[in-house]
Amino acid sequence: MTESNTSNLRSARWFGPHDLTGFVHRTAIQAEGFSNFAIKDRPVVGIANSWSELVNCNIHFKLLAESVKRGVLMAGGLPLEFPTISLGESLMKPSAMQFRNLMAMDVEESIRAYPLDAIVLMGGCDKTVPAQLMGAASADIPAIMLTGGPQEPAFFRGRQLGVGTDTWKYADELRAGKMTQADFDELEASAKPTAGHCSEMGTASTMTSIVEALGMCLTGTASIPAVHARRAQAAEQTGRRAVEMALSQGPKPSEVLTPEAFDNAITLLMAVGGSTNAVVHLLALARRVGYELQLDRFHEISERTPRIVNLRPSGEHLVQQLFRAGGIPTVLKELAPLLHGGAITVTGQTIEHGYASAPAPDGEVVSTMEKPFDASGGIAVVRGSLAPNGAVIKRSAASPELLQHRGPAVVFEDIYDLGARIDDPNLEITEDSVLVLRNSGPVGAPGMPEWGMLPIPEKLLRRGIRDIVRISDARMSGTAFGTTVLHISPESAVGGPLAIVRDGDPIVLDVENQRFDLDIPAEEIERRLAELTLPKPKYRRGYGRLYIDHVTQAHEGCDFDFLQSLPDEEPQRLPY
Ligand code: FES
Ligand code: MG
Repeated sequence: MTESNTSNLRSARWFGPHDLTGFVHRTAIQAEGFSNFAIKDRPVVGIANSWSELVNCNIHFKLLAESVKRGVLMAGGLPLEFPTISLGESLMKPSAMQFRNLMAMDVEESIRAYPLDAIVLMGGCDKTVPAQLMGAASADIPAIMLTGGPQEPAFFRGRQLGVGTDTWKYADELRAGKMTQADFDELEASAKPTAGHCSEMGTASTMTSIVEALGMCLTGTASIPAVHARRAQAAEQTGRRAVEMALSQGPKPSEVLTPEAFDNAITLLMAVGGSTNAVVHLLALARRVGYELQLDRFHEISERTPRIVNLRPSGEHLVQQLFRAGGIPTVLKELAPLLHGGAITVTGQTIEHGYASAPAPDGEVVSTMEKPFDASGGIAVVRGSLAPNGAVIKRSAASPELLQHRGPAVVFEDIYDLGARIDDPNLEITEDSVLVLRNSGPVGAPGMPEWGMLPIPEKLLRRGIRDIVRISDARMSGTAFGTTVLHISPESAVGGPLAIVRDGDPIVLDVENQRFDLDIPAEEIERRLAELTLPKPKYRRGYGRLYIDHVTQAHEGCDFDFLQSLPDEEPQRLPY
């Protein structure tokens, strides 16, 4: 490595000067046992590691980071790993989503504050991936992502499980009296057999696949199973590539995350039948790079994109099978006519170059565009008097006969009201009713938790009914299913029309015509809105207060308003 291509590195501003400040910076690294040889004239590659014993999905990241470091070292860089807050979907309360923006701030400011020339982002569990992408996009130094890979499939009584999807199903079986507690305990012990993120096309697999479509990771790495040697090899390659990116000072996230890249990501989202959570994350990420992506773009792309991937919860298989069938490159290659093939990725080459040599669809896990599993994409956008700024529904995981429906509302004020009354034998409800949950949005819950798959009342379950229309301002787990309208915007807690729905009000859902209305006279809606008093905020201090005061609505991505990019602003003059 020559002085000429390292002296203008960002890290050289810390380590280069032969003065007291340079001395202090160099001794800080030497105190860790690195010699001056390890620091001098080398790009510094930061590794933002979301390893945590609180996040089982990312528990293998310590070891995986060693492979990244090996790649960095072999390419002549200095790897420096650091921890960030990590977001575990299963354990974090009230919801991991409430902390996505906090993690994004942690990642952004860690990158900005330290002498890093490029960054490797290690994320896996649902919210860790968008948080890292958002933070890196705002910091805007060359960034490459290494996702954690899916965990090995679980088996129960000889049958392969999709952890989330099947858990919901079996929980309903237990409540319906069709399964014993002992059987359910055995299911629990078998549910998560290895490290890695959930292995159906839930939020984690959706987001990690999207990373590849956005061009933010090496081609073909998204679906490699967590525990395979190939993932460690990918980690090593990622480290090597990070050094090249540091030396060439690009591409930066702002150069990769173009409107074309977002179109590619949304196309993949629809083709895989991915999680509705990706909608919120992509809307937020786009605003980090000054692109005002709109909810309607998702609908437009959904309409023209067939679902060609057969993974749970929309289909049958798990990410392991997708990996064996060629992974995301095979899917992208098949989608090529719908993609911007010229979009640049972190490889420095076009996305088309990446998927050009991928194997053809096998017809079982990945199908062709001519013989898709669904003619259109998994997610639809609806709007109307109940959601003036839009709402989303995962039609690929809904009951087709309910996609056009008119029924009377059964309203729950919040999640506690729901818990207290949903299984009440006296609850007045039929299969035509529409379950309504409010105060579950970004401000109201707060944090827009995954409460959107409202439970079917026991009374209906016992009659064999497994789905009815359910609507809320909440999100839904990527592994969940059912005819659920989500992300209603504006949410009830800020005065959206969801707040004024009363028991018995007719609600109209018509997905094909994108209609979603409270079917009462407009004057009555006006009158009720005028009389509405907003609920008291749930937090008065701390991060919760910051969150409530600054979170944007679902159709804008639920980022903090002050974290979105400010295109008209003079660039900040920073000391480093
Ligand atoms: Fe972490 Fe599903 S719980 S990926
Ligand atoms: Mg999830």
